[in-house]
Amino acid sequence: MVFIRSTGGLNVIPLARLALTRMEFRGRDCSGLAWLEGGEVKIVKDSCPIGELYTKYSLGDRSAISVLGHTRYSTHGKADARNAHPHADCEKTVVVVGDGAVRNYEELYTELVEKGHKLTSKSDFELLPHLIEDFAKKGFSHTRAFTEAIAKLKGFVTAIAFFKDGSAIAYTSHQPIYVGLSRDLLAIASTLSSLHGMVTEYSEISGGEMVVVTSEGNIVFADLNGRTLSRQFLNYHLDESLVETSGFPHHMLREIYEIPYSILRTASALQAKYLELASKMIRRSNRVFVTANGTSLHAGMVFSYYLSELAGIVPTVVSASEFLLYYLDGVSVGDSVIAISQSGETSEVVRSAYEARLRGATVIGVTNNINSRLTRFSNIYLPIAAGPELAVPATKTFTSTLVLLYTLAKSVATIVNTPISNTLSEIWHEFESVHTVLIENLNKVSVEAEEASKRLTKCSSGYVVSRGIAYPLALEGALKIKEAAYVHAEGIEGGELRHGPIAILDENVFVVFIEPLEPVAAEDMLVVVEEVLEYGSPAVLLSHTTKSERSKLTEIRVPSMKRHFMPIAIAVALQLLAYHLAKRRGINVDKPRRLTKVVKM
Ligand code: F6R
Repeated sequence: MVFIRSTGGLNVIPLARLALTRMEFRGRDCSGLAWLEGGEVKIVKDSCPIGELYTKYSLGDRSAISVLGHTRYSTHGKADARNAHPHADCEKTVVVVGDGAVRNYEELYTELVEKGHKLTSKSDFELLPHLIEDFAKKGFSHTRAFTEAIAKLKGFVTAIAFFKDGSAIAYTSHQPIYVGLSRDLLAIASTLSSLHGMVTEYSEISGGEMVVVTSEGNIVFADLNGRTLSRQFLNYHLDESLVETSGFPHHMLREIYEIPYSILRTASALQAKYLELASKMIRRSNRVFVTANGTSLHAGMVFSYYLSELAGIVPTVVSASEFLLYYLDGVSVGDSVIAISQSGETSEVVRSAYEARLRGATVIGVTNNINSRLTRFSNIYLPIAAGPELAVPATKTFTSTLVLLYTLAKSVATIVNTPISNTLSEIWHEFESVHTVLIENLNKVSVEAEEASKRLTKCSSGYVVSRGIAYPLALEGALKIKEAAYVHAEGIEGGELRHGPIAILDENVFVVFIEPLEPVAAEDMLVVVEEVLEYGSPAVLLSHTTKSERSKLTEIRVPSMKRHFMPIAIAVALQLLAYHLAKRRGINVDKPRRLTKVVKM
């Protein structure tokens, strides 16, 4: 999302197009612009990327000195023109664009419709202009109406409101947004790099803060209570080559750094009614199958630990390829199949869903792409809502899938005694603290992972070892190391190390240990670590409790959080280790050889 205002009479519509094009990695299902023409608000929006919108509606012929724009990935409401942003109130006195997800959409929607507001879409951000309108009718100033409206929204909200008098207000609940300035331009955008070439200095607004641009063009930073905040503007410098990756050297690293935000987006995008339906289906099932490939399969394995521990249901987790070969024939009415695919297009997962449904099973699709074949073939689908993932190695979609699957397991466990809305709000608070812990620790983990990658550089092969709920993470870590750094790695269950794999250990074979989350297993693992060090293998320990003093062991300290969320923190550390190892080996992780983002064959 972007707002641009010229203080020197410049036409800013082409600049909004440029900024939105640079943000398309966040989504390009829909796009839209709003500006003032003859004192009236004009809105052009459609279900297409900004470039097409520009041509289709001859936007090159339009001129404005202030413009609001958005490019969207649909999480709430399908990708069509009505759901595209900007959204206006009934009187078209304010238009709004937003990112994130509103958790109490249904409740507020009903409230507004009962008051006579005409909402025309299924987009959660259409609530905001109508709420602002409601408060403005009480005689509140724009700023007060905006803050009162924002206070009613629960969830993860980043929004810009643009008023008919030329003023604008931007707010973020979590994800930082940027205010940029140049001699004759003022801009607010969700990514700083989208303003490249337009601004010379910038400032950041972070969680709970807002910026008000008055109709005269003055800028005021404030919190939601209206307290003014002082902000410094810094000089803007960004290497041209980093513009596309938002200042990060690679999309993979950018996407890892997005994880604290994407987990909140996932937690807010889950809608009670679908979660309730899916949970009831699972509870009633004779048998529960979980099927997926690659990274999504590893998320499914973590889910089996969640579901059996929390709800006492032990699902059968199986690769979609094997599911089709051996399990499908036995699937029938009364069974549930949870099919996980971030792309929603992986052919064996899609076929598993399709065939299982033909046999009468209930299919619950878990996907990051709500316009995919998997959603079409599912009885119910649950959106991962991590935002588009451009790098081939899956990172933020994995952690978001874990968030979703934990929430599902918890709902299955609690649905009998607790209303789903209570479970969802409890979980939201838990994920808010995961978000904070990750933000505080990401840089530190990245530095330690970079250091640890030095230890692995000379090896042509290695193991990633863990036990219990972290065991699927060992498989996932090994997969990340293979696909990102082209180094052979194998995920091993700690107890299995002595049953063969230990035979090849020497200084050419690394071992990455993930400290297990079960205390008994963690103690056993330390004995194995000693043994491995004796064989001369370069070793790295991802620890969350013990601090090892062994000089031969490089440690990556994983931030501590509730045991069920530790797989998220461990995944981040492993992704960073694989990333830094790849970088050290001179590999462009965004373009891995022989791999594609979607395996359709
Ligand atoms: C690993 C990776 C692949 C995918 C697998 C399934 O980083 O990206 O292993 O996880 O191809 O893809 P989806 O989840 O789209 O079905």
